[in-house]
Amino acid sequence: MAALRTTTSRLLGSSLAAAGRCSPLRPATSAFARSMATVSDAPSPETKPAPRIKKFQVYRWDPNNATEKAKLQDFELDLNETGEMVLDALFKIKDEQDPSLVFRRSCREGICGSCAMNINGQNHLACLCRIPDDDKPVKIYPLPHTYVVRDLVPDLTHFYAQLKSVKPTLIRDTPSPDGKEYRQSIEERHKLDGLDECVLCACCSTSCPSYWWNSEEYLGPAVLLQSYRWLADSRDERGPQRLAALNDSMALYRCHTILNCTRACPKGLNPGLAIANIKKELALSN
Ligand code: SF4
Ligand code: SF4
Ligand code: FES
Repeated sequence: MAALRTTTSRLLGSSLAAAGRCSPLRPATSAFARSMATVSDAPSPETKPAPRIKKFQVYRWDPNNATEKAKLQDFELDLNETGEMVLDALFKIKDEQDPSLVFRRSCREGICGSCAMNINGQNHLACLCRIPDDDKPVKIYPLPHTYVVRDLVPDLTHFYAQLKSVKPTLIRDTPSPDGKEYRQSIEERHKLDGLDECVLCACCSTSCPSYWWNSEEYLGPAVLLQSYRWLADSRDERGPQRLAALNDSMALYRCHTILNCTRACPKGLNPGLAIANIKKELALSN
């Protein structure tokens, strides 16, 4: 677990900084400073800071009111009274302004992958995306090129069916020598770094132009990264069969290495590299 956290933090720091994306990690000192402020430095009414009003434009569509077209609805929040992340803003809107707003979330820690949405034109996890500190409105849509269940909730039924089709679990016939867990060397375990941190949020697949146009047959970057995660696992015994199933002009070779997927990943992973590695393994196996 420690190795996983370390790898994730390193990847997050480097790739997000490089991409100029919203920084997901709160400074270690800010929570401390804030908690101290509530104890000893709470502002008196006279010193209350000036409101920092921020506008949010949120996609709304209700299947129960199908005659009404989808629209962007405006909300305003005082950032002095709102948490730092876009997910905090959505909670504030839902709790205090419009309880009918629907969005998915669970962990609010970037672990469950459920709060994926399109924020200011880029796919993000809302719980890892800091509210931009500028005077522009924050535009929030569901993940692009998905059917919408309601408001910010995309229909991921097809995405999960594709994931199931690649059998994303350890498969082997040989029992472990001592009947206990299947062990790996440190080197073998390192081969899973950058792969097993995937939270299956679908930010990458829904930012991939090839997946937009061919999603019925093309597996897309998230599912292909999962495929490579099991190909790279020394404990799995289905490598040849997995490779054979992927050797398909539509399922795999619709990837044209545009790398939108890698840019979109809020966990700093590189699905484009995983896809290239599958192609390399196929080339070497022929
Ligand atoms: S590299 Fe491949 S999977 Fe990634 S965005 Fe481009 S076409 Fe899609
Ligand atoms: S690779 Fe990244 S963007 Fe794609 S599903 Fe996994 S965590 Fe999400
Ligand atoms: S709420 Fe779990 S990843 Fe955002």
